[in-house]
Amino acid sequence: MCGIVGYVGSRPAVDVVVGGLRRLEYRGYDSSGVAHFSGSRIEITKSEGKLQNVETLLKTVSTAPAARCGIGHTRWATHGKPTTQNAHPHRTGHVVLVHNGIIENYQEIKQQLVARGHKPVSETDSELFGFLVLEKMDAGRSMLDAVRESFLEVQGACSIVVMSEKEPGRIVGVRNGAPMVAAADPQGGVILASDAQPILEYTRDVVFMEHGDLVVGTEAGLEFRELQSGRPVARPTSRLDWTPGALDKQGFDHYMLKEIHEQPASIVDTLNGVLDRARAESFPLAAQPAVELLAAAKRITIVACGTAWHASMVGKYWLERWMRVPVTVELASEYRYRNPVIDPGMLVIGVSQSGETADTLAVIHELKKQGIATLAITNTRGSSLSREAQATVFTSAGPEIGVAATKTFTVQMLALLCFAAAIGKQRLDPAGRAELETVFSQLVRIPHLLEEYLSSPLRTTVQSIAREIQRSRGFFFIGRGTSYPLALEGALKLKEIAYVHAEGYAAGELKHGPIAMIDGEMVVVVLAPTDAWREKTVSNLEEVKARGARVIGVGHPADEMLKKVSHHWIPLPGAELHESLLPFVLTPVIQLLSYELAVLKGTDIDKPRNLAKSVTVE
Ligand code: AGP
Repeated sequence: MCGIVGYVGSRPAVDVVVGGLRRLEYRGYDSSGVAHFSGSRIEITKSEGKLQNVETLLKTVSTAPAARCGIGHTRWATHGKPTTQNAHPHRTGHVVLVHNGIIENYQEIKQQLVARGHKPVSETDSELFGFLVLEKMDAGRSMLDAVRESFLEVQGACSIVVMSEKEPGRIVGVRNGAPMVAAADPQGGVILASDAQPILEYTRDVVFMEHGDLVVGTEAGLEFRELQSGRPVARPTSRLDWTPGALDKQGFDHYMLKEIHEQPASIVDTLNGVLDRARAESFPLAAQPAVELLAAAKRITIVACGTAWHASMVGKYWLERWMRVPVTVELASEYRYRNPVIDPGMLVIGVSQSGETADTLAVIHELKKQGIATLAITNTRGSSLSREAQATVFTSAGPEIGVAATKTFTVQMLALLCFAAAIGKQRLDPAGRAELETVFSQLVRIPHLLEEYLSSPLRTTVQSIAREIQRSRGFFFIGRGTSYPLALEGALKLKEIAYVHAEGYAAGELKHGPIAMIDGEMVVVVLAPTDAWREKTVSNLEEVKARGARVIGVGHPADEMLKKVSHHWIPLPGAELHESLLPFVLTPVIQLLSYELAVLKGTDIDKPRNLAKSVTVE
């Protein structure tokens, strides 16, 4: 997802900005760019692909080393392809900007701008903001007022940093949703960035900007304003006393928490790996041997263990829905000893973050020997599974240190969705294809949506619920459809890191036995996003509530009814999302709930007792 760095001060600005962008590379991107002042002129250097391309170009820009003010950006394409033209910074007259997030009402703004005679040159929503600022500055407003007034016209969660040739040596930033951190450089000047990483080299005293904060940076320092009123506002500085260990954890208390927050970037990196984003179509799969294997499959069997098994169960819904092939999802440890029925038209897929899980590996090994097509989905290059299977799809979550799988779960689901949709779209009627186009246009925005959700009060909400329910006797997670595997995953997470008894159930199964356990000491987490199954899940909620359970409702904010019948309420983002994408927004909720309960219990969260990260024995 996009990353922003801005600098003004006495240091070489281009070096600070490029160095900062390097530290934001982990967020995932597909183009990048830098703008710097040369006297009162702004020069822009940008390119598709890796930051290295921009660094090479900058070597030929003679004014770059002397610049003392500049902004930079790594872009994850949501509106328009990852081309140099769509890369940031964007220039509109004397205004130059970078943007992280999404302008929801960009169509409307674009129509108005075009009607007023403007001619956007990129396909992005970001560039449009520059026209709004330009119009206002040309009408006599200062850059600060122009940015503030323009921002009030846009909807959506985003952060923007702007420079203008009319006000050299000044940068104006806004945070509304997408995170932004600001700091005064001890040598004079300021630095702004999407997170603290680019700043730590210069100072540990940072300001975590709040939603609706505006900041002006000059060589003299930082000045904060309220976006709505424009009034000056004081923002406290936080000292980041990060030890080398904490630095490794980027300030998070545990790797698990850090890895939960890395999910938006893992999605970006995995999409970049699996898809060929330069092609202007929905789900443009990159050429890879997996495509042929999947396209030829008459039926699919997925084998996996633990969390990977849950991700595979979500994948089954998508593969069947979009590809229309029969799919079974098997626990590798059971399947391998069952003498299963196999046939030459089948494809067996092993899903495993480590690629070393003994049972999963054994199934792939055995079926390959019997002439069955085999495919691996793994996060680990060079792993035994990837060497064993005929073809491999690598997910790109980066190293996962916490024993509890978090970000690898998300990217396993993502890989399965991409293949189901990409192959499915060849087989669907026009209506089905149109539906998949919607899914794809929403999918590329999921990283931004999740980043915003994870920086919203979600954690505080979950923390206060965890405090109230921590002494409960046991937990049920229930859901239907794709929320059912999510319920299984929620219960597994809680067991493994908080050592609390929990079970995941298909909501409709409760009354076939487990409901006998329900009383006032049990908590039921009801996963009921607004999808085809929501109504039925809510009926099951009523059944457990009537028997005294404490209910945590997880649903969309407009679902007043669900909120009313729940004792505790966790709102989900993305009310407009296609139901195929709901697992991605439910995932952080179940992970954080387990995490916060484990914090209260004081367990060893990153290395839970009795568990190993990679289970290489059966
Ligand atoms: C997940 O939190 C667990 N630690 C565990 O269930 C894990 O998912 C399982 O052992 C499978 O591991 P793999 O993905 O490396 O094959």
